[in-house]
Amino acid sequence: MKYVDWLKQKGLEYRDSVLHFANMNTIEIAEKFGTPIYVISEELIRSRYKKLKDLLDSEYKNNSIHYAVKANSNLSILKILDSEGACFDCTSTGEIYICLKAGISPNKIIYTGNMFTNDDFKFAVEKNILVNLDSISQLKRLAKIYEDLGKEKETVSFRINPEFGAGHHSHTITAGKTIKFGILDDQVIEAYSKAKEFGFKKFGTHIHIGSGIINAHDFEKAIDKYLTIIMKLSDTLDIAFEFLDFGGGLGIPYRPEEDPLDLELYKSIVLKKFKNIVEKGNLGEPKFIIEPGRYLSAESSIILTQINTIKDNGFKLFAGINTGFNTLLRPTMYGSYHHIIPCNNRSKEKTLTYDIVGPICESGDTIGKERELPELEEEDYLAILDTGAYGFTMSSPYNSRPRPAEILIYKGQTFKIREAETFEDLAKNQEIPDHLK
Ligand code: LLP
Repeated sequence: MKYVDWLKQKGLEYRDSVLHFANMNTIEIAEKFGTPIYVISEELIRSRYKKLKDLLDSEYKNNSIHYAVKANSNLSILKILDSEGACFDCTSTGEIYICLKAGISPNKIIYTGNMFTNDDFKFAVEKNILVNLDSISQLKRLAKIYEDLGKEKETVSFRINPEFGAGHHSHTITAGKTIKFGILDDQVIEAYSKAKEFGFKKFGTHIHIGSGIINAHDFEKAIDKYLTIIMKLSDTLDIAFEFLDFGGGLGIPYRPEEDPLDLELYKSIVLKKFKNIVEKGNLGEPKFIIEPGRYLSAESSIILTQINTIKDNGFKLFAGINTGFNTLLRPTMYGSYHHIIPCNNRSKEKTLTYDIVGPICESGDTIGKERELPELEEEDYLAILDTGAYGFTMSSPYNSRPRPAEILIYKGQTFKIREAETFEDLAKNQEIPDHLK
């Protein structure tokens, strides 16, 4: 793919050497709202959702896309996806709370936690949220919560660990025998027969094998294993499934030389195989579910940041920016690549190689290593791409730096959807004991 086209599919293009995002001048946004700032395109979120939904609809109508809220839980983003018809996957009671606050109906939410407490279960059951269990031992506790609250036990699901995982980094691979998630093949019959004994009437199953998968073939072994387990389960226990959930994991091209995930191939590896066994087996008519986070939100956002210091130490050239791993953790945490480009592309003739570093007092605070860029100057603005998933949600006020604001662009207008934190927020919720006053 040509570089300009790669940028264009992320809503980016240069007009008279000035970077525009979602048709808006990035320098004007940076000057109006200050930096660092997360800037999000509503249209990009909507178009990614529609593309994926059309793909599923073209093959099997009874499907739903549960957006993985952990990728980006901003209320406005949840509202955008809700208005498109998306459902939601939550990993904590906090995420359920924020979905309900966005006005999302409880029946659109699946709660895929891990290491659940009884308080987690109580919160979910009180609010009529479907729980996706992570261990057989949790079943008894969940059943008791239903009984204590006098609620009918309806649907329950287990996360199955199909042992074949994939992902962009070892931390994001979530299947395999030594991995903490889900139940293994030889526990599945026991889990669902116990669920029947405890009085649950309807059943679902779930896998999520990892995050940041750009080669659709990486799903193949896990899907084959999952579907074999499902057939065994339905043959042995005569279970008709309400849904089969295939998790998230769909990657995006962070690097200009990367092609996007081949969605047609993904469809044939995941959805067509599912459809085959539904047509052959006696599973009933389960809903096909996926839970993408990154695919829907990553490319919808950039961070605008400003260079404060150009430092040549005689050995290396550093461009010091006001975005560190407090604002974007992924490069430090996983060594992840985020493409970085100038907002003003004036000096095309001369390029230099920079380490793009943040202001945090740790040497690991490098947002981009050895980047070849047009010669940069102090006060220039840069855009850090693909920050809409696991960007803001993983940010922190480390080094006592308040978190930045978020701006939404919609039809040529900007909306502040989150205020930047202030110094007062740093001291909020703290109490000084009397003897220290
Ligand atoms: N479903 C479950 C149960 C998950 O645990 C996750 C992500 C997803 C769906 C969505 O995965 P996605 O479609 O976004 O790949 N912080 C890491 C990613 C961690 C993902 C955790 N689970 C990163 O920045 O790459």
